[in-house]
Amino acid sequence: MKRFAITEYGRAKDVFTEMEAEPRTVDATHVRVELAAFGVNPYDVSLRQGQMREVRSVTFPYVLGNDGAGIVTEVGDEISHVTVGDKVIVHAVGGTYGAEIVVPGKKVVKKPESMDWTQAAGAVTPWLTAYNLVTHVLGEKIGETVVVQGASGAVGSFLVQLLKSQGKTVYGTASAKNEALVSAYGVDKFAAYDKVDVGELFRNQADTVIDATKGSRTAESGIKIMRTGGHYVALNQLPENRQKEGTYLHFAPSKDYSDQEALSSYVELFDKKKLTVTIARVLPFTLGSVISAHEELEGHPSAGKIVIEREDK
Ligand SMILES: NC(=O)c1ccc[n+]([C@@H]2O[C@H](COP(=O)([O-])OP(=O)(O)OC[C@H]3O[C@@H](n4cnc5c(N)ncnc54)[C@H](OP(=O)(O)O)[C@@H]3O)[C@@H](O)[C@H]2O)c1
Repeated sequence: MKRFAITEYGRAKDVFTEMEAEPRTVDATHVRVELAAFGVNPYDVSLRQGQMREVRSVTFPYVLGNDGAGIVTEVGDEISHVTVGDKVIVHAVGGTYGAEIVVPGKKVVKKPESMDWTQAAGAVTPWLTAYNLVTHVLGEKIGETVVVQGASGAVGSFLVQLLKSQGKTVYGTASAKNEALVSAYGVDKFAAYDKVDVGELFRNQADTVIDATKGSRTAESGIKIMRTGGHYVALNQLPENRQKEGTYLHFAPSKDYSDQEALSSYVELFDKKKLTVTIARVLPFTLGSVISAHEELEGHPSAGKIVIEREDK
């Protein structure tokens, strides 16, 4: 069974390798999924570069990848919500860069026919982040007006669409070239951070500001935008200067959040046509694709997910 692994931390072209792995056994609580597609995330790049080694150590060779979609080929005795032959969305803790994965049954949900493999695999981590942040971290505290910085990104685009589905007023920031895309997600106002001073434009207007930019780049403007006493959430590092009165939160995934709940919500909103996932590029299932996806994500890529799809699926 083909998998793409890293042999050590380092540059993509130096450390990725293709390997043949022995299939794992499936116990009572697990399912085996033959993967049709997997998504590539900024997190995978950080992990491969060794930036996460203090908080998440891995044993080499290590197969990256948390997001995937495919067909169930075996189910454990205690699993009843999916069966062999079902098409599913998969959330894993590593291991989706390959032809097959064995995961706990609670980490898969059925994929509707209306959703293709790339829309399933490309959405997993960004959607789980957006959903859990809005539902479990902020809840009622979020207020009525929310500013999403990085609204053109994978997480940002889902935040905008989820909040609009809940009737919130949502302003989005991104680069000017992505204005049409972000407007299509439904923002009430758009501001281009590379054209205007978004901190001044939206000063004190948000009950909640979410910095969903790559590397949390917009702290200074975001804090200006948060109303006094509001909420400020970063997906990466929180800013050091937190003098303005407010609640400052860093989002991190938690085992307390149910993947079944979050992914079922994704399926439901997708089926109601309230969500779109932007796919920037679909690459073939090769080592070269994995390396090129990682190299692209190291820079400032075009908006949308990079997904690797098996052509025979
Ligand atoms: N804490 C967690 O659990 C968690 C979960 C998921 C993601 N993340 C992190 O959240 C961030 C976003 O993830 P993603 O998958 O949504 O990434 P993405 O799709 O690449 O989106 C990146 C966003 O950042 C914006 N951006 C890039 N450079 C910028 C700059 N210099 N100034 C302002 N904005 C800039 C982009 O806007 P333009 O392209 O329009 O310029 C885009 O909106 C990443 O850093 C990721 O590692 C954290």
